[in-house]
Amino acid sequence: MNQELELNIKEKISHLKVIDTISKVAELVDVKVYAVGGFVRDIILNRERNDLDILVIGNGTDFAKNVADGLGITNVSYFKNFGTAHFDYQGMNVEFVGARKESYDRNTRKPIVEDGTFDEDISRRDFTINTLAISLNKNEFGKLTDKYDGLSDIKNKRIKTPLNPLKTFDDDPLRIMRAFRFASQLNFNVDESIVKAAYEMRNRLSIVSQERTTDEFLKILTSPKPSVGLKLLFDSGVLEIVFPEIAIMAGVDQRKDYHHKDVFLHTLQVVDNISKETENVWLRFAALVHDIAKPPTKKFVEGIGWTFHGHEDLGARMMKKIFHRMKLPLHQLDYIQKLVRLHLRPIALAKEEVTDSAIRRFVVNAGEDLEDLIVLCRADITSKNPIKVEKYLGNYERVMQKVRDVKERDQLREFQSPVRGEEIMQICNLKPSRKVGEIKTAIEEAILDGKIGNNYEEAFKYLIEIKDQFLEN
Ligand code: CTP
Repeated sequence: MNQELELNIKEKISHLKVIDTISKVAELVDVKVYAVGGFVRDIILNRERNDLDILVIGNGTDFAKNVADGLGITNVSYFKNFGTAHFDYQGMNVEFVGARKESYDRNTRKPIVEDGTFDEDISRRDFTINTLAISLNKNEFGKLTDKYDGLSDIKNKRIKTPLNPLKTFDDDPLRIMRAFRFASQLNFNVDESIVKAAYEMRNRLSIVSQERTTDEFLKILTSPKPSVGLKLLFDSGVLEIVFPEIAIMAGVDQRKDYHHKDVFLHTLQVVDNISKETENVWLRFAALVHDIAKPPTKKFVEGIGWTFHGHEDLGARMMKKIFHRMKLPLHQLDYIQKLVRLHLRPIALAKEEVTDSAIRRFVVNAGEDLEDLIVLCRADITSKNPIKVEKYLGNYERVMQKVRDVKERDQLREFQSPVRGEEIMQICNLKPSRKVGEIKTAIEEAILDGKIGNNYEEAFKYLIEIKDQFLEN
């Protein structure tokens, strides 16, 4: 049925030394071995990948040892309790696992690892797109086994569980996050049953370590269009658990004729906008949280409407607790706080009458993150009105021009005549005196006025020209 695909797969894997060695060892020790999981999925999707997952119908660690010996390497890590082993070989992270019918202890999360058959192992995997297996045994090398119609789900861009999702998620609740992460990474749809099961089981995420949950959350932010995953997190109620401050941004309040925009939808748009400009997940994170304090600062002011006074400062202050709770890397905290705190500043600086010192203060506050801040500000423009968009973009351009102007002026202030005092004294036969300074200033002024270029030759020539008029009086 999949002859062409199998040929294609064979062509992609048969030249790999590690695959060849695995085949040979399998022949020698007479066990069945398969490439499985994300490796197979990504080959079919033509995605780059350097993780190779190997399923051994037998003892995974013993098999890994034999393969390592065959390759002549010793850098193997064994996890006997889990029946897994892995090593790096020629830039590939190779992971071996013995087939198991695994279930976790419901409360301790410790896996109960029992040997299983191929079918048992495949059925306890997370999604149908991850259940495909390629045989690596010589007699059927490259043969694809597809027990759960994973191939058609890959073709139809669909995330589904091989078993009832309640069972699949109960085995490992992190799979709730993984479903939405894959949807976002691959731009796939998730089956409705997954959203429902995620909603029902969302509280079970509490038994998963914060690091694993956060890791999946950041993978969603790293995906090409993070709103895909973030929306799914929201629709399933999972966002309330993993990032409640973002979940409560959703919704619109209306009072008299005044309503504000839905901060959650606006934020999704900002995150998608910025993701087109940068791969930097922390800059994307800043986009996600820049308005995080709008809900707690929201106020209706008679005659004015909705206000969010001080949300940039409160938002920056909220970050510390969130970073600790989500176990985010603390060395990124300052950066995120800075971007949140300053995200309104460029709008204020776009006004005509801004002073140099206000610009200078902004340059100093933003420091090396000034470019990132402007990327954030640009992404923050979500108006559908092209005239307004152009106006706002123009404002930021003006601010950056002011920044460049002030920087240039400041540099000029620091600059010095290319012909130095020592030389002026020598040429004019002067002792250290006020006159030396006056001549030097005259050269500098000529450069600032554009009379001569800012280089030694022209400055020297100019010195010769003017020196007599200074020496005369
Ligand atoms: N797996 C699973 N449940 C999990 C994690 C992993 O069933 N909670 C299975 C899946 O079959 C998966 C394989 O183990 O394909 C390898 O896991 P992993 O490397 O974490 O995921 P990949 O699918 O390989 O995807 P990626 O490397 O992009 O995370």
